[in-house]
Amino acid sequence: MIEVKPETPDDWWEIEALYDLCFAPGRTALSSYRLRDDVPPVAGLSMVARDSDGTVAGAIRFWPVHVGAVDALLLGPVAVHPTHQGEGLGGFLIQEGLEAGRKSGWDRVMLVGDAPYYGRFGFSRLDGVVMPPPTNPERVLGLELTQGAWHGISGQVTRWTR
Ligand SMILES: CC(C)(COP(=O)(O)OP(=O)(O)OC[C@H]1O[C@@H](n2cnc3c(N)ncnc32)[C@H](O)[C@@H]1OP(=O)(O)O)[C@@H](O)C(=O)NCCC(=O)NCCS
Repeated sequence: MIEVKPETPDDWWEIEALYDLCFAPGRTALSSYRLRDDVPPVAGLSMVARDSDGTVAGAIRFWPVHVGAVDALLLGPVAVHPTHQGEGLGGFLIQEGLEAGRKSGWDRVMLVGDAPYYGRFGFSRLDGVVMPPPTNPERVLGLELTQGAWHGISGQVTRWTR
């Protein structure tokens, strides 16, 4: 049995440990992390999944960012513990997070990730949306939460300032 709840401040370090396990060393040196420095994840959308003995099985976080003159959600990191991968938990966390984002009034989501995985949720390449370097533009993907929300949007992705 897996229970999914919104992340609280007490969950922070257990989720960081999961990310350390699931991602290559040096993950926090990635340029996407500079967009997260000193900005808290979006409350309510960032979620943690625990198994029946309380161990963290998966987690997803969302950050607010600016893209040119508009606001967007930055999805990630999302990770599932190796003992639970392939059970649908990653997909569940992503779908739940996207739905929560839509209900909270966000119009658009972006991420840096594998198009073959995120394509199944409707993400596609964002032309003209520029992450801080070095980022492979092929991995910059977006999804509209309201129709047309990425239409005509381009520019640098910058750290949240509000
Ligand atoms: C990516 C991740 C979150 C997926 O979680 P999960 O719970 O295992 O995923 P689900 O069970 O919902 O989906 C599994 C499917 O995704 C596919 N998949 C997983 N990672 C993939 C990838 N990088 N590229 C393409 N497909 C991928 C699996 O092959 C499987 O395909 P199938 O449904 O056709 O059998 C998890 O594997 C993970 O934590 N990986 C390490 C961290 C990571 O890479 N995070 C994503 C950052 S871009």
